Amino acid sequence: MITIALSKGRIFDETLPLLRAAGITVGEDPETSRKLILGTSRPDVRVIIVRATDVPTYVQYGAADLGVTGKDVLDEHGGNGLYQPLDLGIARCRMMVAAREGFDYRGAVRKGARLRVATKYVQTAREHFAAKGVHVDIIKLYGSMELAPLTGLADAIVDLVGTGNTLRANHLVAVEEITRVSARLVINQAALKLKRRSIQPLLDAFTRAAA
Ligand code: ATP
Ligand code: PRP
Repeated sequence: MITIALSKGRIFDETLPLLRAAGITVGEDPETSRKLILGTSRPDVRVIIVRATDVPTYVQYGAADLGVTGKDVLDEHGGNGLYQPLDLGIARCRMMVAAREGFDYRGAVRKGARLRVATKYVQTAREHFAAKGVHVDIIKLYGSMELAPLTGLADAIVDLVGTGNTLRANHLVAVEEITRVSARLVINQAALKLKRRSIQPLLDAFTRAAA
């Protein structure tokens, strides 16, 4: 049995065409089904639905053989025990620093001010500001980061930006790009060795479809 870990929403939706290219269709839609283990058109392949941030953990411990996860999530996780053979080019966005319109971010950085930064991406933010030599106090949040500068909780946020609509709707502006983000295929290293004969054709089909 091959187990593939996916998260609901854009990762699931954008992985479906790749699975289809590998000849696999998923039996149920996770948006309407409460099931967390979904059968597929292949009796030896199943999909499990986990939180986006939990995909690397399931694959690291071998509870799933493969997973699809954003580079943002992988960077925070660290990638231990994971083979990362493929950038799937889906769920593309950018990790950005953003602040309130009118906030002089560059001036604050130039003056060596200590910035308060709210984010779900603590590791990424810490590394980014450390590399720039900017002193920051990081405030960990689990969502709705855009609220932090609007309520005085923080000077800036580190968050994902896709269309930019969320920033615009909240009168925030992106002031710095940290990295480009897309979803990656991750494979449990032991599973790759032990189940190579079933995993390799999947990997090949994904590689062709993602090209
Ligand atoms: P969790 O449920 O664990 O909080 P989440 O809400 O961040 O996760 P999604 O919104 O489905 O989960 O995001 C999954 C992945 O899609 C992210 O890890 C990121 O790589 C990518 N992503 C997030 N936001 C965007 C966006 N606005 N545009 C494109 N890709 C995005
Ligand atoms: C992400 C991110 C931003 C938003 C940015 O949130 O945390 O809030 O997307 O996307 P935009 O630039 O296209 O507006 P989330 O994963 O909750 O996004 P979703 O609500 O679009 O799923």
